Amino acid sequence: MVVGGSRGIGAAIVRSFAGVGARVRFTYAGSRDAAEALAAETGSIAVQADAADREQLLASIRDAGALDVFVYNAALLGGGDPLTLDPDAVDRLIDVNVRGAYHGSVEAARRMTDGGRIISIGSVHGDRMPFAGLTAYGMSKSALQGLARGLARDFGPRGITVNVVQPGPTDTDMNPADGPLSQQMHDEMALRRHGTADEVASLVLYLAAPLARGITGAMHTIDGGFGA
Ligand SMILES: NC(=O)c1ccc[n+]([C@@H]2O[C@H](COP(=O)([O-])OP(=O)(O)OC[C@H]3O[C@@H](n4cnc5c(N)ncnc54)[C@H](OP(=O)(O)O)[C@@H]3O)[C@@H](O)[C@H]2O)c1
Repeated sequence: MVVGGSRGIGAAIVRSFAGVGARVRFTYAGSRDAAEALAAETGSIAVQADAADREQLLASIRDAGALDVFVYNAALLGGGDPLTLDPDAVDRLIDVNVRGAYHGSVEAARRMTDGGRIISIGSVHGDRMPFAGLTAYGMSKSALQGLARGLARDFGPRGITVNVVQPGPTDTDMNPADGPLSQQMHDEMALRRHGTADEVASLVLYLAAPLARGITGAMHTIDGGFGA
């Protein structure tokens, strides 16, 4: 199951898992057309559920039945000066990026087979923040690190692993490779290019593979050297 799978990195994760024969269910909030097209393309099931709404989120997880892999990908970026940012927008970001990740992961563990996988999509900004204006976003991605460390201990006795994949600049609607801040980002990177959603999805797929069963409570950065 992928929370927030209609576009970008989430859609690439849906494609990767469907491509190796997994039965995939994903949620989306607003992008119905993209979600339905992806479901038709991959044979997966698309469910509309706002990750900020705890009851909607938990219902979408309960309906999925037994889970082997749970990926929490949904997030809002919402940058700006903290002195003037709308506090309601900050609360919404925290609801989607953090509260949904916590409640979704715990509910997923209730439905998960022993030896399952919980993977959150964090960000290199969980570790490093070279730009002003992304405080709430960075805070939310650091929170996922604590979530993974804690849940790894809580669910380790069942063989469930809990990890965070931390992309750097990746070409999606959230951060297009030809966007106005791209050059500034590339100047911070060893590889000086945006990554692709497929590259991130391949790391998620690896963490779900049987031989990754010994990796837990860990952060996996894929950022083109942004944080090097
Ligand atoms: N792109 C980057 O450079 C970058 C870098 C570091 C980390 N990341 C992280 O990677 C993940 C994916 O980013 P992306 O670039 O692919 O973003 P994106 O292009 O903005 O796509 C976001 C996805 O999340 C879904 N989503 C957003 N709010 C939701 C909600 N309330 N409920 C359910 N689904 C929701 C969206 O669905 P709808 O359209 O249906 O709302 C969409 O499928 C995020 O966690 C992001 O923080 C991205």
